[in-house]
Amino acid sequence: MKREWLKGFWYVVGEPSEVTVETQPVRKKLLGMDIALFLDKDGNVRALHDMCAHMGAKLSLGKVVDGNLVCPYHHFAYGGDGECAVVPAFTDQSKISPALLVDSYPVVVKYGLLWVYLGDEPEDKRPPIVDIPEFNDPNFHPLYTKYEWECSLRPLLENLIDFTHFSYLHGNTFGNADHPFRDNYAVERSKYEVSCRVKVKFNESIPVFPPTPELGPNPDIDSYLRFHMPTVVVNSFSVGPYKDVTLFHFTPIDDNTVVFGMMGVRNFEKTETADDRLRNLGNTILEEDRVVLESCTPEVLPGQAMIGVDKYLVACRRMYDGFLRDGHDIDRHVFPTARGKEVSVIPSPVRGANPMFARRWAMKEVSVHGNPGGPAPGSLPVTGGCALAQKAGGCGGACSKARAKKEAKAAGGTPATTGGVDTMLTELEIKAVPASDPKASEGVVAPVAAPGAAPAAGDAVSGSAPVENTAAAPAAESTPVVPSDAAGKGSEPAK
Ligand code: FES
Ligand SMILES: [Fe+2]
Repeated sequence: MKREWLKGFWYVVGEPSEVTVETQPVRKKLLGMDIALFLDKDGNVRALHDMCAHMGAKLSLGKVVDGNLVCPYHHFAYGGDGECAVVPAFTDQSKISPALLVDSYPVVVKYGLLWVYLGDEPEDKRPPIVDIPEFNDPNFHPLYTKYEWECSLRPLLENLIDFTHFSYLHGNTFGNADHPFRDNYAVERSKYEVSCRVKVKFNESIPVFPPTPELGPNPDIDSYLRFHMPTVVVNSFSVGPYKDVTLFHFTPIDDNTVVFGMMGVRNFEKTETADDRLRNLGNTILEEDRVVLESCTPEVLPGQAMIGVDKYLVACRRMYDGFLRDGHDIDRHVFPTARGKEVSVIPSPVRGANPMFARRWAMKEVSVHGNPGGPAPGSLPVTGGCALAQKAGGCGGACSKARAKKEAKAAGGTPATTGGVDTMLTELEIKAVPASDPKASEGVVAPVAAPGAAPAAGDAVSGSAPVENTAAAPAAESTPVVPSDAAGKGSEPAK
């Protein structure tokens, strides 16, 4: 279990300004899967799996005509719902089979960002996108910066969750090692969120906030820190009347690339000069993180020595790993005939709405947690799919299971079936086996660099009080500050 991405959640896929040409789709890759974004007839952004159901051509190489995405190869045209609307070679268009479908993923705009739901649940069962009241408050001024780093997801995500390092690593930028975060705080947890409130002091020499003489020199900063499933961190800092709230969103592109963004809002110094100053400060802070993150080698540790103040991070890990165990893990296939290419399979709601077409999907899910979208027993042989899936009866999840077994064996341990604190940062470097390698026919990927030791079991936290479980407070209603979320309803169809 070295690729710990989660399906069934919302991910930021870009900004609305990236999808504005009516005739032109935009290709995006996230969680190891290509999708094609385009504008439908109503100007809404739609997201289709980027593979034509006819012969597998990339739909993103085609054009958009009358709000349908037209495949470049034989001009099959797909609507935003994933259904094929036009087959030019047919004399009678009514003969188009309803089984001619591609996966269609819901897209909304929230906080000026495009969010795509990568999962197959109906609307009423999907997790919410994070709610941040200050983002809908016109008194707050927005500032957005985005980045692309060569790294894996979880160490980077955890770096933002792990607030305790702010005081030390960033002691020359905004932290204050003389007044650090300590372990006398409580952790709150709701279904999709972990949070805590902590008081801390910032660095006096590089003030983030305007002076507050009425509160005395270097006053306490009230910190409200939130982790929202699956890859969102919201850090809120306030002192007196001043408040700064930042949304950090992370989207893994592949095993070694993460796109992330910082969307901050503040109710003070709403000038471009302040924007530049805070953007530069953010870049400096991230550079401090990058140097240390690149030096970290948690894979050689027998287990991470978590301490009491880490209880917030531990609670976040437990939540993430809980969803990973609970069927949100993503199935992957190895395609030996395509140069060892490995792809993710993430079913969309279209599959759930069309269960009778289960064997239709070119890329079938073979999750170890069930196989609602996979080949039905006795179904016709499939073209493509993972090497094992092409055998009679399908691979039945062996694709994932065999890989986990292989990886664990190489690491000198037993398969990590439950995740946990110690496995979270233990990222093996893994690459797909070339087509010529006999292992490829088994649908297995091999580690290129075995770690020195296996992940240790358990997730004990040394010296920590029990993590408290309480419901998170409901968010307040307010008026939007981010223009594309102008209705203030949280999210809306992507336009
Ligand atoms: S491959 Fe897309 S229409 Fe033939
Ligand atoms: Fe940091």
